[in-house]
Amino acid sequence: MRILVTGAGGQLGHDLVRTCTAAGDEVIACDSRRLDLSDRDSVAQAITGTAPDVVVNAGAWTAVDDCEFDPDRAWRVNALGPRWVADAARRVGAHVVQVSTDYVFDGAKAEPYVEWDDPNPQSAYGRSKLGGEREVDPSHAVVRTAWVCGAHGRNMVKTVLGLADRPELAFVDDQRGCPTFTADLAAAIRRLAVARLPGTFHVTNQGATTWYGFVRDILELAGHDPDKVRPIATADLDPPRPAPRPANSVLDNAALRLSGLELLPHYRESLERLLVELGARS
Ligand SMILES: NC(=O)c1ccc[n+]([C@@H]2O[C@H](COP(=O)([O-])OP(=O)(O)OC[C@H]3O[C@@H](n4cnc5c(N)ncnc54)[C@H](OP(=O)(O)O)[C@@H]3O)[C@@H](O)[C@H]2O)c1
Repeated sequence: MRILVTGAGGQLGHDLVRTCTAAGDEVIACDSRRLDLSDRDSVAQAITGTAPDVVVNAGAWTAVDDCEFDPDRAWRVNALGPRWVADAARRVGAHVVQVSTDYVFDGAKAEPYVEWDDPNPQSAYGRSKLGGEREVDPSHAVVRTAWVCGAHGRNMVKTVLGLADRPELAFVDDQRGCPTFTADLAAAIRRLAVARLPGTFHVTNQGATTWYGFVRDILELAGHDPDKVRPIATADLDPPRPAPRPANSVLDNAALRLSGLELLPHYRESLERLLVELGARS
């Protein structure tokens, strides 16, 4: 398979390149310099010039709070970008996997969200990502994921390891989601891409927790005292974060589950593996 990965310099992009290369694919790794999603010509050139079988659009402007202050940039990269990707892919017959987010939901549902629940994004980032979902063809795939962590890039695991020597930490206990690890996510995206499966798939690691619970897991599995973290409410954050986050963004991986496809492992298993890779656990 010849596979083009956008956002190849990001945390998911990095592991997509690694996973597909290890599987023997011909990988065209495009960072934002080689393929700029905000530039139609750059997207068209990168895709039509290489004629891949599959394009995974892992590139996005992911600075959730900054998107509130520059929604045009969010629309340009996260919504219009997928339009140019889908257009170029159509011209060469490539299948598209568009990576999206749990932030398309408002978080008001009491149960986990299935793929067929109505989105209702509350942030500029979420609205722009929903726009991107709507730009790809019905024959293409949308993979919604959440709380992404990997060895390459910034994420909660690395943040907590950096703070682990402090006597006390405080994290919110009223936002619930599914921590998801790029090594597992990349492999699942590759499986969907190989099969050219269409439609929306929720793809997260199994298990759900709050940020407070996740920080406890990270501290415990990295050999620190989990009791040093104290639960707080989102309303107690000072200063408050500019972009609202969904209180519940647990994604039921219903489309995978109901079609008998492989689910990702429980997040604690994958957290252990990442901590070993980062040298925080032996
Ligand atoms: N991180 C999460 O918790 C999370 C949760 C749910 C869904 N997602 C989705 O998962 C995907 C991967 O996220 P990630 O965590 O790997 O994010 P990331 O580490 O921020 O990577 C995103 C990549 O996109 C690139 N990018 C930004 N603007 C671009 C542009 N105009 N053209 C081309 N590339 C551009 C960035 O490159 P530069 O650094 O060069 O700008 C970066 O390498 C995204 O679609 C994101 O929306 C992420």
